Amino acid sequence: MDSKITEREQWTSRIGFILAAAGSAVGLGNLWGFAYRSSQGGGAAFVLLYVLIVLIVCLPVFVAEMALGRNAMKSALLAPVKLAGTNWYPLGILFFIAPLGIASYYSVIMGWTADTLFHSLFIGLPSNLTEAETFFSSISSGKSVLIGHLLSLLLSALIVSSGIKKGIEKVTKFFMPILFLIIVFLAIWATSLSGAWVGYKTFLFKFDFAELRNPQTIRNAFTQAFFSLSLGIGIMVTYASYLNKKSNLPKLSIGVASLDTLVGLMAGLITFPIILTFGLSDAISESTVGALFISIPTALGSYGVVGRIVAVAFFALAYIAAITSLVSLLEVPVSSIMDKYGFKRQKSVWLITFFLFLAGIPSALNINILGTFDSIFGGVLLIFGGFLVSFFMGWVVPGKFNEELNVSKVGIKTTRYLKFMTRWVAPPIIAFGLVISLFDLLNGWVN
Ligand code: PHE
Repeated sequence: MDSKITEREQWTSRIGFILAAAGSAVGLGNLWGFAYRSSQGGGAAFVLLYVLIVLIVCLPVFVAEMALGRNAMKSALLAPVKLAGTNWYPLGILFFIAPLGIASYYSVIMGWTADTLFHSLFIGLPSNLTEAETFFSSISSGKSVLIGHLLSLLLSALIVSSGIKKGIEKVTKFFMPILFLIIVFLAIWATSLSGAWVGYKTFLFKFDFAELRNPQTIRNAFTQAFFSLSLGIGIMVTYASYLNKKSNLPKLSIGVASLDTLVGLMAGLITFPIILTFGLSDAISESTVGALFISIPTALGSYGVVGRIVAVAFFALAYIAAITSLVSLLEVPVSSIMDKYGFKRQKSVWLITFFLFLAGIPSALNINILGTFDSIFGGVLLIFGGFLVSFFMGWVVPGKFNEELNVSKVGIKTTRYLKFMTRWVAPPIIAFGLVISLFDLLNGWVN
């Protein structure tokens, strides 16, 4: 056991951690989830709720999750047990299962993304909605889905198999700056579209107070906040277990959360102008996949050469963002079985990858199964995990939480604030969000 602790890898620098964690956070959730969730009727009320949840609830949970990982210096599966004994093994198991559940369908959507990128580069894009339906069914069914799913898994597995410094850190350091450049470029380009202003208005200013009480909007905001920040399922536990004791956890979490929220908002400033310029606003809110894979390719497909170039940039951006997220989803179960069974990294990576390929087949073949996986693993389970993490650090092992804040020399005021939030504020608010989300989920199933 001890030898494993000393062998534990570490990030080479603080920026290495920030980019890797931001790499996990920034993903299809920012580009795909943000657009369709904000267009499902919530509008600006959704954006406001989302930002409030990030600030009030997610930031303390983020620090709590990191404190858990860094204090235990263990994989997510074993960290809760190390701190609080075997009664808390179920929390470790939740951390183990939830990333597997998400990764299984996430790589399927990555396959669609790669296929769309391929079409933008070599074949061409649909130029009206009728063509778009055929286009979407061609990228989301048949052999090509399975190939896309497999290739995305293999690519991420290769990165994870090279370890923390040489794999994850190196790749995220390379990709994240490119990603920011592309997104800034696209956001600037989008200002030139004739529907830019209508797009911004729909996204940011169409405010309807009644939406704040709509269960669907509340659920969307909670889901988006936790999903987009990769919170509640042990990702940050795992990544923080590779941090040194000096790093200041609250500062790091603010860095990562700001980058992620910025990218989410910028993505909205890109997708909404595109969609509204080409009069496709109905197509986006009708289905969960509409925004990215139906409206965007169609809009850009009808915009000549420039549209094609932008499509290449957009779907390359989405794919790059998704790789660094899938990598983090793999790292959690991989490090967990290394820790638990003493397996070598290589062996763990290939075992988990093989399992994920099989687990993703139902989602690859049936989009409804994918949707169900997303609402369970990418929705309620994450929110539930967030609740447990804040309860755990706030009430079960508050001393360890304190210890982590002390070693990273966090000021007394911030420490008090974070302890107060993880004890008294985050758990009840998340519990409320969880109940509403469950209610909305079941309601959708019944109807
Ligand atoms: N945050 C990632 C995204 O926005 C997805 C993700 C969720 C990754 C949960 C890890 C854990 O796409």
